[in-house]
Amino acid sequence: MNDSYKAIKISDHAYWVGAVDWSIRDFHGYTTERGSTYNAYLLVGDRIVLMDTVKAPFFDEMMARVASVVNPEDIDYIISNHSEMDHTGALPATVAAVKPEKVFASAMGAKALAKHYGPSLGVTAVKDGENMRLGNFDLTFIETRMLHWPDSMFTYFANDAVLFSQDGFGMHLATSERFADEVDPCVLWDEAARYYANIILPFSSLVMKLLGKVGGMNLKMNMITPDHGPIWRGEGVGAILDLYAKWAEQRPNNKAVVVFDTMWHSTEKMARAIAEGLVEGGSRVKVMPMHSHHRSDVITELLCAGAIVAGSPTLNNNMLPAMADVMTYVKGLKPLNLIGQVFGSHGWSGESISQLANILKEMKVELVGESIKVEYVPDDAALKKCHDLGRQIAVRLAETCGK
Ligand code: FEO
Repeated sequence: MNDSYKAIKISDHAYWVGAVDWSIRDFHGYTTERGSTYNAYLLVGDRIVLMDTVKAPFFDEMMARVASVVNPEDIDYIISNHSEMDHTGALPATVAAVKPEKVFASAMGAKALAKHYGPSLGVTAVKDGENMRLGNFDLTFIETRMLHWPDSMFTYFANDAVLFSQDGFGMHLATSERFADEVDPCVLWDEAARYYANIILPFSSLVMKLLGKVGGMNLKMNMITPDHGPIWRGEGVGAILDLYAKWAEQRPNNKAVVVFDTMWHSTEKMARAIAEGLVEGGSRVKVMPMHSHHRSDVITELLCAGAIVAGSPTLNNNMLPAMADVMTYVKGLKPLNLIGQVFGSHGWSGESISQLANILKEMKVELVGESIKVEYVPDDAALKKCHDLGRQIAVRLAETCGK
């Protein structure tokens, strides 16, 4: 066993025994420029409990950290809060090595784990709200369906007032620091927002319900311990709960995102004229050419925006591929309460405009004014039209935001 990996004690009974993935740069389409962590936790008392595991290639690292505290074979129970493979890839090997008395998961988790790894894991299903005593440990399971998968649950550990929240309140951030208050705040809040926008956003209505449910339980929370990124403690607990409440609400802000791709710079000229009009009208603007931005950046900007203005020329009767990519991604993440419009240049057919408009309509974006479609190169009159559209959107955006 590699003894360079050590567990880190985080509370009276709990240790962090996870893994740091400094290399990962893509998480099913979400760019993770600062890597990630797969957090597993070990509870040591009368009995020994492993809370979640790690992605399969990090099994040895997790086991080495466990072995720095206890003999891994002494683990009595494993709790799996979420079946996705970044947290259960190492579960079959862990079960084989440890031979726990029981593996616990939600009812949906038990089914999902059987589908992933076969029935031999012998998972015991627990119920929403079920309280369990394991030795001197007092644990309560809280189902959090669709946050992030149907099987997801939180486990509240009353002894140390710790909420094990799997994907919830996490972020993709590889660090040597284990606690959020030790991380550079500029990086911390940026990554927390990116994670919410790219993972949690489509489930915002469930987040609001969950915050109400957990709030109603009046749980003392010294820490929130997610399965990705740093641990929240002290004032950080309230801060991340407040941010989730704010993000889940999706109130529009006086900011517009102009997202486009361009072939011969005509659509780019239109984008810039629209942006100037937006600024003149009083909006903050983020201009995002898709040849130099990633889809993850766009949805992150939209998290705290109120307008999306999308542009593309037409190529072979379609919008440009980079626009199809970002619009598919953004639509899937279901941002709400946006206004916007579409624009673009074309040579002869010009289908990109109606295609973009259809996507915005499917996203329930309120379309302001008229779309702008220019043949080949925008002249001064066309650019004025773009500028005016920007101003018109800014006026409507200010109304929407109540400013
Ligand atoms: Fe970190 Fe939904 O898995």
